[in-house]
Amino acid sequence: MRIKDVENKAFFAQFIARLFVHNVFKDSQIFLPKGDYERRHGDFPRYFSGWYLFVPSDDLAEGEIVHKKLNGLDLVAYRNKEGRPVVHSNRCTHMDGMFAPLGSVKDGRIQCAYHGYTFEDGKPRSGPAEFRNDPSKCIPCHPVTEVNGLIFFWFDAKSEDGVGVPTWELDLPDVSDFPRRATMRSITPTHMAPLHENIIDDQHFMILHGSQRYKSDLLPYQHKHRFRTRNRMIFALPDRMKKFFRLEEDPVTEMDSDFHGLGIHITKANIAGFEAVMIHCTTPIEDEVTEWTLTMYMDRRQWSLIPSYRDFISQIHPWGTFAQVYYLHTQDRRAFFERAPYRFYEDVPKGFEKVNAFRRWIQVELLGEERPMGKNCIPTKYTPLNVLQDDAAE
Ligand code: FES
Ligand SMILES: [Fe+2]
Repeated sequence: MRIKDVENKAFFAQFIARLFVHNVFKDSQIFLPKGDYERRHGDFPRYFSGWYLFVPSDDLAEGEIVHKKLNGLDLVAYRNKEGRPVVHSNRCTHMDGMFAPLGSVKDGRIQCAYHGYTFEDGKPRSGPAEFRNDPSKCIPCHPVTEVNGLIFFWFDAKSEDGVGVPTWELDLPDVSDFPRRATMRSITPTHMAPLHENIIDDQHFMILHGSQRYKSDLLPYQHKHRFRTRNRMIFALPDRMKKFFRLEEDPVTEMDSDFHGLGIHITKANIAGFEAVMIHCTTPIEDEVTEWTLTMYMDRRQWSLIPSYRDFISQIHPWGTFAQVYYLHTQDRRAFFERAPYRFYEDVPKGFEKVNAFRRWIQVELLGEERPMGKNCIPTKYTPLNVLQDDAAE
């Protein structure tokens, strides 16, 4: 047996073993890692201002109320007369009744089940005149954007009700070239930050996915709400598979990660020529429980008489990716990643500069305060976009 075969088998064996262990112990607290423990008990903020996914557009039909707890708030969404989504508190301003689950939507107005008062875009539309004309009876609405089949709302971490004016516009890539779409949703007991860290962390491609070689760059905008990295990975395919697909070299996977705050992380992937855009949306539900929705926008499935690796990848997507993402990242990661010493917050050893830079970006740009770093941390050179622009202008 060759070394490579042993490696491949060992990789799958440990994957299966970890899945088994996870499923046996999933309700126990033995996996509560030190990193999580410190975040839970330290002063790392649970919620950050930004655009967050409420639901995919398909999940909010006209005449329907969707009730969700997000960012620690009790929220409802419905579509108004023009079909635009409205997101606001679940509390009625009449006598603090709740819209969901007993309320309804008629002609683009939400109706409270308690005394039947109706509201349109947060404004009272029924009841006595003094109620309708009282500005304090208006329900503050979150700014909402519906784009790429996803409904986003702005959350303001500084205001008490979470409603505020967005400090940036949502600028998502155009996905109209990708006719195929698939969505996966999971709820994971972790803060958004370590969840994204796992995705951009170059080490995880080797440890978790088994890539043999990888290279990663910090791309030059880590500025305000934007942070970007690029990864290039090479996965070693078994020789038989390479022969079947007539590949001379192991295939290359490229992943360009682009953050818009902590709620939206866009990855553009190119796997041996097969292109896809993935929008990872993370919305905290409450405390450190996060809803993670991954939407993939892909090219059509490819067919050809001569088997090609690119076509093969187009066939197995998105399910291959979803299986990997779901099991490896959400089910497995707590046992595997969080227990590793480098997951301790503020302590990043050599070789984890990207994670380091990511944490700096959160501190400087999203939190507005630089925090002390652990003794193993090497300060990463951090390049805000405005500095780059000034350099170019000179
Ligand atoms: S509490 Fe909502 S209508 Fe009275
Ligand atoms: Fe991954």
